Amino acid sequence: MTQPVVEVHLTDADLTAALRADARRGLTDSPKWLPPKWFYDARGSELFEQITALPEYYPTRTERALLDSVAGAIARTAQAEVLVELGSGSAAKTRILLNALTTEGPLKTYVPQDVSSSALRASAAEVAAEFPGLAVHGVVSDFTDTLATLPRGGRRMIAFLGGTLGNMVPAERAEFLGGIHDVLEPGEQLLLGVGLVVDPAIVVPAYDDAAGVTAEFNRNVLRVLNSRLRADFEPEAFRHIAHWDPDNEWIEMRLESTVDTTVTVADLGLTVRFARGEQMRTEISAKFRLEGLGEELRGAGFVLEHAWTDPDDRFALVLAARV
Ligand code: SAH
Ligand code: TRP
Repeated sequence: MTQPVVEVHLTDADLTAALRADARRGLTDSPKWLPPKWFYDARGSELFEQITALPEYYPTRTERALLDSVAGAIARTAQAEVLVELGSGSAAKTRILLNALTTEGPLKTYVPQDVSSSALRASAAEVAAEFPGLAVHGVVSDFTDTLATLPRGGRRMIAFLGGTLGNMVPAERAEFLGGIHDVLEPGEQLLLGVGLVVDPAIVVPAYDDAAGVTAEFNRNVLRVLNSRLRADFEPEAFRHIAHWDPDNEWIEMRLESTVDTTVTVADLGLTVRFARGEQMRTEISAKFRLEGLGEELRGAGFVLEHAWTDPDDRFALVLAARV
């Protein structure tokens, strides 16, 4: 087996510096908010893996079933030599794609990329062991600002699965898709896995499960602030909320303080008050309509080539080509 290479563009010191800036902005704003990438320390990545197996969380199993049925078709049209996967996490579903791309196409290299170095290192090693002929070149970085540093050479496909595109607001998506356009050559492809707009009675429980795993995941951001910036949040004093916003067609994750409290963030010399009932936004998960997504892709210089959906129209795999 070839040992995987792991390139680190984001050191622990970089992460702390970025978290300091984000925490200062978000906690002093009104209403308060925190950016989502801070969920994913080692514990957060593990909690997310537990979420993917919850009965209420349909996106992962729906996307996996879709990949099972269409990976061959994707591999035959893509003819990719390099698969770059942004926000790859455990890369559990990616094995289906890697299998098709190596047996039905000329895939030589897999480039998983994630902000979570623990998840990245573990998945890179597993994939390298499972696919002995594949060069695995992992990258620890932030996908919003390091696309240009991704390894080049060979016909590429960029995969962005798990509905993670929906964790950005529309303006962020436009910038992100534009950045991907800029690193790809004409004809190279982007494979997106996105959640579709469904009945709130289905989508809300997916983000507010009975066992409370999602609540724990949401509160994990407070534990990250406690450990990295010496804050003194009491995570158990915050309640998890998943709110469906029908106008924006996104789920909004919030943490609501159940008490009047003052939190100190020692490393920022910052004191923050929370009123009882005050809510802080931690994440959105936008759901898409294919027409709207097609327009967003066109606006960023892509053409939507094919979209596959599950029988219940809850999730889509979308293949787009850079114009
Ligand atoms: N692709 C996996 C994981 C989805 S969860 C799946 O489909 O199951 C979102 C993933 O994106 C996590 O692994 C998280 O660590 C990563 N992530 C979130 N924000 C990121 C950022 N700004 N840069 C890089 N990775 C990020
Ligand atoms: N990309 C995942 C999604 O939007 C992330 C996610 C799942 C998530 N459950 C969550 C983010 C709960 C915050 C809180 O489905």
